[in-house]
Amino acid sequence: MRKKIVAGNWKMNMDLNEGLALAEGLNNHFIANPLKDREVILCTPFIHLALVSRALTAPGVSAGAQNCNDHKSGAYTGEVSAAMIRSTGAGSVIIGHSERRTYYGETDELLASKTAEALRNGLRVIFCCGEVLSEREGNIHFDVVKRQLEKGLFGFSEEDFSRCIIAYEPVWAIGTGVTASPAQAQEMHAFIRELVEKRYGKEVAENTTVLYGGSCKASNAAELFANPDVDGGLIGGASLVRDEFCSIVNAL
Ligand code: PGA
Repeated sequence: MRKKIVAGNWKMNMDLNEGLALAEGLNNHFIANPLKDREVILCTPFIHLALVSRALTAPGVSAGAQNCNDHKSGAYTGEVSAAMIRSTGAGSVIIGHSERRTYYGETDELLASKTAEALRNGLRVIFCCGEVLSEREGNIHFDVVKRQLEKGLFGFSEEDFSRCIIAYEPVWAIGTGVTASPAQAQEMHAFIRELVEKRYGKEVAENTTVLYGGSCKASNAAELFANPDVDGGLIGGASLVRDEFCSIVNAL
């Protein structure tokens, strides 16, 4: 059975004290309201990871990073390795977020290397894909997502792939307040599952968690999550507000 997951992507928000207070508040909430078969991952800035990891004691709640370097170690000033992330107690890392692809020029090839390094160090990978508006308007959104998955993710063995979560995030919906309609999300998620099936077979496809991201909030989460191929969400802005985030988890 595939996992139902809500992951928060804090991006570059909140200082250490603010982040820790939010993590502790969420942890208390999920101790009082157990997640049961659902899972919550808080993807924080690197600075927060070690303390947030330790603060998260509720079953099913864990910390993740938002990026990692593609090298093992060495002279890469300012960078953070997958092994360092793992050593904080964090269990996951987001790879290939559109903000990293766009602002930091991360290519499909680099993202495959980062994914390899993360998997080698025992991290689960939340691998992001999604088209920009002009690509959707040009009706090439399926081709774009297919390329991103084939180049970034489908080179891995079945065993490695089974530790990957896919997040479909249409770039035109990220931080814009414009959400993909439930039908648009379902259509792309079903397409992604089909691609996984062609590459790894039906059983793996059925077990792959595919998250939706892009202006997902408490008011629209339920209708997005109601789709058979939407297994949860990757939440940006709305993950910074405790009650809002809890309502989204509740909608799952
Ligand atoms: P948003 O961001 O929820 O603020 O649109 C989602 C994301 O970028 O992961």
